[in-house]
Amino acid sequence: MKAFIVYCHPSEDSFTSHVRDSFIRGIVDSGNEYLISDLYKMNFKSDMSEKEYLRDSNYRDTPDLEEDVLAEQKKINDSDAIVFIYPVFWTEAPAKLVGWFDRVWSYGFAYGNKKMKMLEKGMILCSAGNPVDRLEQL
Ligand SMILES: Cc1cc2nc3c(=O)[nH]c(=O)nc-3n(C[C@H](O)[C@H](O)[C@H](O)COP(=O)(O)O)c2cc1C
Repeated sequence: MKAFIVYCHPSEDSFTSHVRDSFIRGIVDSGNEYLISDLYKMNFKSDMSEKEYLRDSNYRDTPDLEEDVLAEQKKINDSDAIVFIYPVFWTEAPAKLVGWFDRVWSYGFAYGNKKMKMLEKGMILCSAGNPVDRLEQL
């Protein structure tokens, strides 16, 4: 099985980077494969352009997606599982990861006449500063 890891943390000096490394060790030790997008390291552009906005909001399935978006979509379709690893920032995912969804889950790929593969498995490994009981209250 091949897992696509979407990793989003600004620092290698973090708990979340250890979560990523342990998860990768588990994948490799169990004889599986992985691909990774490290969104900060890639300097992934999280701002949707006006052109992208007009395309998606007007449901235009035009073949003019940016190369970085096409590359992420290919990684999804080349995988069997998708795993998101990120910290909670203000009860949300980091803005860069939110922008990844805005741009990569485009019209004609994730919705509309979908080309996105229905992956067998999905997982979220999300670190947080607050304990679980506090997070459940929020
Ligand atoms: C800008 C910012 C916002 C944060 N917001 C939250 C939050 O809303 N809830 C929470 O439990 N932790 C919050 N945290 C703590 C992070 O989730 C925590 O740093 C991370 O999950 C685990 O540590 P790491 O950064 O060493 O990987 C926040 C941290 C930062 C830097």
